[in-house]
Amino acid sequence: MNFKKDFLFGVATAAAQIEGGGFADGRGASIWDAFADKPGKIKGGAKPSAACQSYTMFDDDLKQMKDLGINSYRMSISWGRVLPKGTGALNQKGVDYYKRCFDKLLEAGIAPNVTLYHWDLPQALEEKGGWVNRDSQYWFSEYADKMFREFGGTVPYWVTINEPIATYVGYGLGFFAPGHKDKAWGNQARHNVMTASGAGVEAFRASGAKGKIGVVIDIWKRFPRTDSPEDIALAKDEDEENWKFYTDRLLGQGYSKYILDKFYHEGTLPIMYDEDFRLTNLPIDFYGMNYYNTLTVGVRKQAETSGENGGNFYIQHQSHPENLGKILKFIKASYKLNIPVYVTENGFSGKNETPASDGMIHDDERIAYIDKALKSVDELLGEGIDVRGYYLWSLMDNFEWSAGYESKYGLIHTNFETMERTWKKSAYWYRDFILKVMNEG
Ligand code: FCB
Repeated sequence: MNFKKDFLFGVATAAAQIEGGGFADGRGASIWDAFADKPGKIKGGAKPSAACQSYTMFDDDLKQMKDLGINSYRMSISWGRVLPKGTGALNQKGVDYYKRCFDKLLEAGIAPNVTLYHWDLPQALEEKGGWVNRDSQYWFSEYADKMFREFGGTVPYWVTINEPIATYVGYGLGFFAPGHKDKAWGNQARHNVMTASGAGVEAFRASGAKGKIGVVIDIWKRFPRTDSPEDIALAKDEDEENWKFYTDRLLGQGYSKYILDKFYHEGTLPIMYDEDFRLTNLPIDFYGMNYYNTLTVGVRKQAETSGENGGNFYIQHQSHPENLGKILKFIKASYKLNIPVYVTENGFSGKNETPASDGMIHDDERIAYIDKALKSVDELLGEGIDVRGYYLWSLMDNFEWSAGYESKYGLIHTNFETMERTWKKSAYWYRDFILKVMNEG
């Protein structure tokens, strides 16, 4: 194996997906709280206000992390916990919670990798127009600045924004909070959230914080089903809309002519200023790639009913963990990236994960998936590619956004009634994998 001891092996979570704790200690509602209150938006009527109760069970979760042997933990700050109205006075109890988390992690030799925005915009800001409002970059920069001043001396890794596409899903498609379905709004919101990311980087440098700062973008590369011009065009359009829009701007120098022309003809072109691009062109220290899968797409033939999407195209959705390395190299080459890369998320959603008669959850499919993904990362290292960490999504089963509690990504099973955590077979497997590297690397 090519992994060395200093490679970061972690697990990832997000505040809205695990913290719960209701609105205790002054947490302000987020757009996900409001979205979950609308009937039919989230599977099973699930609400993020319960989640895994990590707000009160952090010590227990830390113990799980120590037992797993990880050396880094990717988590996010709930914006509304520290700034209940989104801007203005800090909520000291919220700040104290994160201070304690970071201190305890550092004490345990687990480096916190902290995301500022993992989709939970304070509802108070949504009421002012949310990400569609150009002021969002100032709101975010105020929040980011406050966090850097509190924690910039200790937290080694920062991420501005996790997966900017979620903003589009929330404002353009309506499947995520806040649930608007308007492409022009969606495009404006996704333009603005990236401007905010740049403003966050600027605030970071100005604060004199010690660590490194980067962005996280998920790559779901599409491959055409056949080499027909229609299938090739569809794959290109899907790539442009679903990930290139973000990488072109945050890892490159701006949007592609293809997407700008498309939006112009649709009448959905966002309002943009030079200043927005100045901010996103500021250098970042690393790129965090979230990788789950690659997809095969094709134009649906008449009478063809197969494929998951049910729309006008066919989409094949099998897991391809082995493509992780190929995609990472492709992104690095496309943007001539010479900054370090971290795999900030990778994982597998299991169905019917109930304990067998021996009491164990035999999530062998997850193990096979992770094994292939890690082999792919190992090959990258063998080729001398600068990848420095790998974070499994997720530490435990949690609130999986619109899929509620039914989609299970955890290494650890969460009983949502009792909040008891139980290791799945994959947790033991990951622990042993890390142990092997630490002994040999
Ligand atoms: C990613 C999200 C993360 C989680 C996983 C399964 O897109 O960043 O919060 O939902 O998918």
